[in-house]
Amino acid sequence: MDYINLMEMEQEQESDKPPSQGPHPARPWRVAVIANVKGESALPIDGPADAGAEFDRRETIQAIQSAIESDGHQTVFLPADANLLYELHDVCPDICFNLAEGLGGDGREAQVPALLEMLRIPYTASRVVTNAITLDKTMTKRIWRDHGLPIAEFQEFTLGNEPLSPALHFPLFVKPAREGTGMGVDDKAVAYNEDELRQRVRWVIDNYHQPALVEEFLPGREFTIGVLGRSDSALFSRRPGIYREDGFHRFPTLEIDSSHSVTPGVYGHHAKTLNFSDSGVPGFICPADVTSELGEELHSLAVRAHLAVGCLDVSRVDMRMDASDRPCLIEINSLPGMTPGFSDLVVIANAEGISYQDLILEILYLGASRYGLLTSTPPTGLGLDSIERLIHQPEMVIVR
Ligand SMILES: Nc1ncnc2c1ncn2[C@@H]1O[C@H](COP(=O)(O)OP(=O)(O)OP(=O)(O)O)[C@@H](O)[C@H]1O
Ligand SMILES: [Mg+2]
Repeated sequence: MDYINLMEMEQEQESDKPPSQGPHPARPWRVAVIANVKGESALPIDGPADAGAEFDRRETIQAIQSAIESDGHQTVFLPADANLLYELHDVCPDICFNLAEGLGGDGREAQVPALLEMLRIPYTASRVVTNAITLDKTMTKRIWRDHGLPIAEFQEFTLGNEPLSPALHFPLFVKPAREGTGMGVDDKAVAYNEDELRQRVRWVIDNYHQPALVEEFLPGREFTIGVLGRSDSALFSRRPGIYREDGFHRFPTLEIDSSHSVTPGVYGHHAKTLNFSDSGVPGFICPADVTSELGEELHSLAVRAHLAVGCLDVSRVDMRMDASDRPCLIEINSLPGMTPGFSDLVVIANAEGISYQDLILEILYLGASRYGLLTSTPPTGLGLDSIERLIHQPEMVIVR
């Protein structure tokens, strides 16, 4: 790490303040934390060298369980594998904290939400369709383009020998269409001519068994923006004061400076595995040194990107500046990493004094409120009618 400019040095930790009177569970919940664990979840035999990079560590699951238990709930960990259906029948959770990456197929991050919806069990964050779409970067970009959001020009290669679109200009960036944690991204991801492009596209298709997404290379600064909230979040939050009028929290902007990292110029897989003290780790600057106009623009783009693909409650949006110094959306993570003190969203939250425990409980409470598991105290000026309307949005509520 070059440096992290921690605002928490000057600020009171949010967690030191007593929770507001607001929402409360009618009784303690039984919460199942569902995830794929590194070294425990099965990997495909013909997978790439970095297969399973997105899976969580046991310590992350334990940290999430501790955060949830600190609020008086019981927790249990359930692996996101083929036994999950039976485990869920045995455990009968009130709600699941979903971290599951899933196993195989073209929409693996949607597998656990789909199972939970079939069983009518509440769970945190985004739902089935959104988790399938956001895993697929090409689909996501098509939706963003439809919403008029700024993205780099792109083309998906499924065979590898498709003619290159004349709309694309070198240098081009090549990555697997449906991976995360920088899988399949290193300094060879940038192609400067058609030979390099064809080789890299072939490498992605052969090793990752999925289409290659080819985009114009975005040469400018890189930012990642945390998104937390929704229009009525203050009604159900333990910390309603952190949300703006639109219902979303404004986390500080995190800039990633890869200029001197192990994958120079890109935030690739190797760089994503390094600890802050390792050599070759990118620079992480939070809050980033940006004008207030650019900061507002990045946050507004992140919220629009989150809403356009139907994300719920939490996400992390990656962006880069293009050759004309305009921000472009790269991708959205509807299941952002939650490793304490390491994952970008956790680092961003900590940098402004939001503790790990509060971050986890906000995501849990926002999720629980969509299933009527919380009672809320109406803020002044909001009548019971409007509360009723917010709680009973038919598409949001799954009644058990
Ligand atoms: N079009 C592009 N131009 C320049 N750099 C890019 C482009 N697309 C991706 N990158 C670089 O590659 C990195 C990884 O890309 P991307 O965020 O799409 O992958 P990911 O594996 O889904 O990441 P995450 O770990 O956030 O899930 C980005 O952080 C950025 O540094
Ligand atoms: Mg990314």
